Amino acid sequence: MQKTKRTSAASKSQAAPTKEQNDSMLQELFLDELRDIYWAEKHLVKALPKMQKAATSEELATAFEDHLAVTQEQVARLEQVFELLGEKPRGKKCEAMEGLVKEAQSVIEDTEAGTSTRDVGLIIGAQKIEHYEIASYGGLAQVAKTLGMEEIGNLLGETLEEEKETDQLLTTLAENNINESATQEVEE
Ligand SMILES: [Fe+2]
Ligand SMILES: [Fe+2]
Repeated sequence: MQKTKRTSAASKSQAAPTKEQNDSMLQELFLDELRDIYWAEKHLVKALPKMQKAATSEELATAFEDHLAVTQEQVARLEQVFELLGEKPRGKKCEAMEGLVKEAQSVIEDTEAGTSTRDVGLIIGAQKIEHYEIASYGGLAQVAKTLGMEEIGNLLGETLEEEKETDQLLTTLAENNINESATQEVEE
């Protein structure tokens, strides 16, 4: 005789969420994460000019200046996403970005102006920021696709590519000469 199929009595009695409720929970999470990255980008708009000013090499200063313009566009792109969702753009404090920016600022305090050593520290700090953004946009773009929001997914994907390019540019700057030139610097 065949065994009777096991019924999941436990999950049934706990009134498992319906598909619709599941979606709305995911949508809520999605919105919450959008608010996090919106706050993060706006925070970065304030921080990048300080990093630009602190940079020793012209190339790194220009990279920060360019990324400021890109970041401002990314803020506007997120506002477009909120609009498509029928939501007012609203930020939610992102503790991670606040911490990452603080770290980058402490590099400025802990290094001497006009040195490549400072630039090495700024690049590492900036790459930590880019990696946080890459993780955020990668996840958000994927969720947007899962939820069938193609246009929003594409917008988030565009930003994701920009963050990856910035990360790559910073690696190139470090490899080309900044790291090497920092090896020549000694404490007086
Ligand atoms: Fe960004
Ligand atoms: Fe970025």
